[in-house]
Amino acid sequence: MFTSIAPRYDLLNHVLSFNVDRMWWRRTARMFRHILMRPDARVLDLCCGTGDMTFALRRQAGKSGLRILGADFSHAMLQRAAAKSAAQDGTVPDWIGADALKLPFPDAHFDLVTSAFGFRNLADYDAGLREIVRVLRPGGECGILDFGEPKGVLGSFYRIYFKQVLPRVGTLISGVRGPYAYLPASVERFPAPEEMLVRMKRAGFAEVSSTPYTFGIAGLYRGKKK
Ligand SMILES: C[S@@+](CC[C@H](N)C(=O)[O-])C[C@H]1O[C@@H](n2cnc3c(N)ncnc32)[C@H](O)[C@@H]1O
Repeated sequence: MFTSIAPRYDLLNHVLSFNVDRMWWRRTARMFRHILMRPDARVLDLCCGTGDMTFALRRQAGKSGLRILGADFSHAMLQRAAAKSAAQDGTVPDWIGADALKLPFPDAHFDLVTSAFGFRNLADYDAGLREIVRVLRPGGECGILDFGEPKGVLGSFYRIYFKQVLPRVGTLISGVRGPYAYLPASVERFPAPEEMLVRMKRAGFAEVSSTPYTFGIAGLYRGKKK
């Protein structure tokens, strides 16, 4: 599904989110400044797609020479990420084809694992969380940025946009029927913040928190491996 929309993925992201997506990635990267400043830190951006979250982490890291890996199981998405790397100055991330549910990394390897708008798509959320815990070092941190469902009056308007307008515009611009109708369904299936925090604790995270972004349209889940 993601491979089929890869050619228009970036354009659609920016159009459908009115460019707010850039702010969400930047804000998420800022939250992990204390790790990104360390030149010896190892960072993994899971479900990296065309790499915008990964590049935001890279920019936040500045001149610190730390290694940032972007991983995704869609080759077409990774090809776009690699093409975008070529236009960047300085150190660029490394890209790797990998399934988030079966990562090709040893236990306790990373200081930070992030995932932006990818975790929601996993077939098994608990298995995904356990896999993140496995590859994190004790004390390592996780940041999962994903869509939420805003409440109240704004929520009602947003639902009309998200369920009626967005799938139509997405289908029109991508030329592919399916993925953009799937998007609202996948957000409905995603656990509510309280449940997500319970699942994170159960998987082995401490100090879990959720921070709503833009009235809860998106949100960042954070946790520290015990
Ligand atoms: C909505 S895109 C998000 C891409 C990027 N992180 C962003 O913020 O724009 C979701 C990505 O998750 C990837 N993905 C979904 N399930 C995956 C899995 N099990 N393993 C690895 N990647 C996965 C898809 O290939 C896709 O590139």
